[in-house]
Amino acid sequence: MARETNAPLIVLGIETSCDETAAALVRRDASGRGEILSNVIRTQLDLHAAYGGVVPEIAARAHIDLLDAAIRQAFADANLDFDAVDGVAAAAGPGLIGGLIVGVTTAKSIALGLGKPFVAVNHLEAHALSAGLTDGLGFPFLLLLVSGGHTQLLIVKGVGSFERLGTTLDDALGEAFDKAAKMLGLGYPGGPEVETHAKHGSANIKLPRPMKGRPEPHFSLAGLKTALRHAVKALEPLSDQDVADLCASFQEAVADVVSDRTTRAMEIYTERLEPGAQRALVVAGGVAANQRLRAALEQVAGENGFSLVAPPPELCTDNAAMIAWAGAERLARGLTDDLGAPARARWPLDPDAPPALGAGVKA
Ligand code: KG4
Ligand code: ZN
Repeated sequence: MARETNAPLIVLGIETSCDETAAALVRRDASGRGEILSNVIRTQLDLHAAYGGVVPEIAARAHIDLLDAAIRQAFADANLDFDAVDGVAAAAGPGLIGGLIVGVTTAKSIALGLGKPFVAVNHLEAHALSAGLTDGLGFPFLLLLVSGGHTQLLIVKGVGSFERLGTTLDDALGEAFDKAAKMLGLGYPGGPEVETHAKHGSANIKLPRPMKGRPEPHFSLAGLKTALRHAVKALEPLSDQDVADLCASFQEAVADVVSDRTTRAMEIYTERLEPGAQRALVVAGGVAANQRLRAALEQVAGENGFSLVAPPPELCTDNAAMIAWAGAERLARGLTDDLGAPARARWPLDPDAPPALGAGVKA
């Protein structure tokens, strides 16, 4: 463990948990404000598109091919030498284990070579802390984390301190968007495709709102997916207008459910915390790029006296700036890891959260 420090820090961040190979340099100043010095992303979308989803083995091999150049580019863009960094951070989980091992091993090697500390970053914590980088947001806050692999509502009390209020019993929200897109013959990743097509449609197809009104702010998206499949069958062959209407109806159902579940979480947050506690709702993860969802959250946040903090879309989807920033936040608190720290396919933010009834393997 390193010592706590108030000194300015520059951290290299590496992200390889899924299908983006990314490297970034971030500076954290003495007052705790962050600045992105460079932010390189090499997407592997083309390699996986033909399969309609990420193929883990292809992803791991592509990370090996792409990562060194991405790191060199990050230093070149920031106009810095390797020895300018105070620490090296990598997403160590959760995610696809092959890719994680590539990123973690690379980060450890650089840290060892430079004699600088290594930080094993939880990818979900990095999404969670992004609002500190983009908006200087302090703790605590309520977090809606919506990505391809995760759908959770959490109280974020501090770095490494989370209380999970809600999770998904089945599919993640981004996964639901991806599967909806596939059903409608649209490309991968599905979220942006559904959003684009929804702009030309009207939400006139009746779809269910699973879990709406339940006291625990959990989610379930499998039923919505099945209902969409039935609606597709009933309309086939689909015209362009049908596709647009189905996208709009699906997106509207999602916005409605997310608004309801988040409202419930805001109530719980307000009950649990001190009366004067900051009332901020942060939305993070790839699905947070969705403009319709942001508008719906803006509305319910306002109704409940919360401010909505949403990082810009390019910092909502996977990136290495958030890994570098989470690394800098940990490094500043003396939270570093030894070179034996493993890559972890599963790594829940709140390991003590009671399992949600019917929950699958996604923590
Ligand atoms: O956080 P992320 O980049 O990767 C994971 O850690 O999963 O999230 C990717 C997910 C994908 O499922 C993608 O379809 C979804 O985020 N996504 C969107 C939008 N942009 C990305 N979903 C809905 N609307 C969008 N505009
Ligand atoms: Zn992510």
